[in-house]
Amino acid sequence: MTIAIPADLRRNRGIRTTEVQLPDTPPVIEIRHLHKAYGQLEVLKGVDLHANQGQVISLIGSSGSGKSTLLRCANLLEDSQQGEILFCEESVKWRGTGHNRRPADASQITRIRTNLSMVFQSFNLWSHMTILQNVMEAPVQVLRRDPKEVEEKARMYLEKVGIADKADAWPAQLSGGQQQRAAIARALCMEPKALLFDEPTSALDPELEQEVIRVIKALAEEGRTMVIVTHDMNLARDVSDHVIFLHKGLIEEEGAPDALFGSPKSERLRGFLSATSN
Ligand SMILES: Nc1ncnc2c1ncn2[C@@H]1O[C@H](COP(=O)(O)OP(=O)(O)OP(=O)(O)O)[C@@H](O)[C@H]1O
Ligand SMILES: [Mg+2]
Repeated sequence: MTIAIPADLRRNRGIRTTEVQLPDTPPVIEIRHLHKAYGQLEVLKGVDLHANQGQVISLIGSSGSGKSTLLRCANLLEDSQQGEILFCEESVKWRGTGHNRRPADASQITRIRTNLSMVFQSFNLWSHMTILQNVMEAPVQVLRRDPKEVEEKARMYLEKVGIADKADAWPAQLSGGQQQRAAIARALCMEPKALLFDEPTSALDPELEQEVIRVIKALAEEGRTMVIVTHDMNLARDVSDHVIFLHKGLIEEEGAPDALFGSPKSERLRGFLSATSN
């Protein structure tokens, strides 16, 4: 017997191309049925996201589908009106409801945020600081770590992303790809439990993009937990354990990259993939 699932219900539940096979590692980020609106504009309409330790999750979808908003909610840079956010199995505490919902515990938010590092499309390096100073700034100023030890780590991370020779240069003296790699070194120097990337390669020319993609792939291979918003389907396919396709604030389809890209089930995802492959 075939049971017809009403289109609305199917849409709200999304299509799972493959069952989500969670690895046997503890959860780092869990988002459950998150709702987020800007005034009257509902941007996230009940979205779930799980990133276990060592997993790479990619978020894809059309412009305006809510990818950056979801990432900013995960990083607690945005308030949300409903749903839960857990970090390493600790629930974010809220007070108030709906549009009046706010985090209840500022110290919890700071603690969680310092364990999540975000890398933005536009690098966001401080132009008045050298690359080394940029990488050292937050661990020294926010985490109050010993500057000598931080400098050692900062140089190690600059080495890792392949720009150790640029430590004393100013951001303006670097190419876009080098600036983005500096931004990744800065994120790593916080030694976060997860890295969040918002379109890390979108501002770059194709050849510079590859430098950054190589670094992201290396981080995936060493088992970093990452959530990556990207328009680059090759990147999503190559590095992810799990891909989420957002459409108008809902998960339209999600699954392992091979299944999602190889045999997309939803009409919308098929349309999106054929548009992005042009
Ligand atoms: N601060 C804000 N105030 C009001 N509306 C916003 C704000 N930020 C985002 N939005 C709206 O929320 C919706 C989702 O935006 P979001 O930036 O999350 O999309 P996106 O999927 O990241 O798109 P893109 O691929 O273009 O980056 C859009 O309609 C956008 O205009
Ligand atoms: Mg965006």
